[in-house]
Amino acid sequence: MTTTVRTQVAIVGAGPAGLVLSHLLAEAGIASVIIDQRSREDIEQTIRAGILEQGTVDLLATIPGSRVHTAGARHDGIELRFDGAGHRIDFPDLTGRAVWLYPQHEALKDLLAARIGAGQDLRFGVTATGVEDADGDRPRVIAVDDAGAGLEIEADFVVGADGSRSVVRKAISGSHGGLFREYPFAWFGILCEAGPSADELIYSNSPDGFALISQRSETVQRMYFQCAPDLDADSMSEAQIWDALQRRVPGTTLVEGPIFQRDVLRFRSFVAKELRHGRLAIVGDAAHTVPPTGAKGMNLAVADVLLLARALEALLVRSDAGLLDGFADAARDRIWKAQHFSWWMTSMLHVAPDASDFDRERQLGELRSVVESEAGRTYLAEGYTGWPFA
Ligand code: DHB
Repeated sequence: MTTTVRTQVAIVGAGPAGLVLSHLLAEAGIASVIIDQRSREDIEQTIRAGILEQGTVDLLATIPGSRVHTAGARHDGIELRFDGAGHRIDFPDLTGRAVWLYPQHEALKDLLAARIGAGQDLRFGVTATGVEDADGDRPRVIAVDDAGAGLEIEADFVVGADGSRSVVRKAISGSHGGLFREYPFAWFGILCEAGPSADELIYSNSPDGFALISQRSETVQRMYFQCAPDLDADSMSEAQIWDALQRRVPGTTLVEGPIFQRDVLRFRSFVAKELRHGRLAIVGDAAHTVPPTGAKGMNLAVADVLLLARALEALLVRSDAGLLDGFADAARDRIWKAQHFSWWMTSMLHVAPDASDFDRERQLGELRSVVESEAGRTYLAEGYTGWPFA
């Protein structure tokens, strides 16, 4: 049995992009239906990055019930560590902006509560399988729920906020993929019960490779170290993990504690060739993925969504397609800046398995030229705190 529902905007994916979009559309008086193949619990437990740009925080703070300012922690800087010494990058001094440490799953809990509280039509356990009439004025999302019942959502517009394996992207770009690059390393990530090892995040380059000492709370910490992409997360003992981390952060004594979560994050850079086709568009990870260094993923998703929400308001409230016609170029402008920033932070801080002595000395020269120059530190701080939203 298949049920058909009609709405103005069908949103596939209840991650940050889909949820923020439904909020902005509702503010403009536009109705939407969101589906997600995961359960609410799964979405709320997805462990992702923890750093929000100033602009992302300013937007989230306007959503009723947001805890970003009460449960999140403002960070005014980071430490870049290399060659045995730490160098602080002071964000407010350099840019007048800051970032917030607020884990993505906490932001998701807030967004889900806010949207459900506002009466949003939001369906969990519903998997999109395709989009029909992708060239017409009433595209339809074809979906199936966990019990096997069919659902069709007929809409004025379909948005794919459905992550890196996006079904909507296939309807937009057909066999065109996108532009991408792979990296010869991954991150080994842990969550542990321990106090913080430092006041601020440490991004460390060492002869053994990169490490990031991040945080979650006074009692839980998140840390990562560079590893081989095919490493099995269960192949290392806790002692080996602490040794690997500690060796990559010489000069800081890490506070150790029981490790209760571990994962290997493989990563790549990707930008879809087409971001929009007729009355379909993709945002967030469906449109692009970035390597994690610098935590641009969720922030870039929010930036896409701000642009798309304005374009959809013009289209659906004022029958003006102008902003929608400019959406892909406007989004791409920031996407490629964030792609560059994420690639730059990654390549500046990681040690490639085949790095020569020349590569290594050049990298240290690059790091010194960044931290020793106010222009260099400002460039990093602008990218990290996020360029102002258009
Ligand atoms: C975190 C992840 C990142 O990729 C980053 O650059 C900073 C922080 C985190 O998970 O805390």
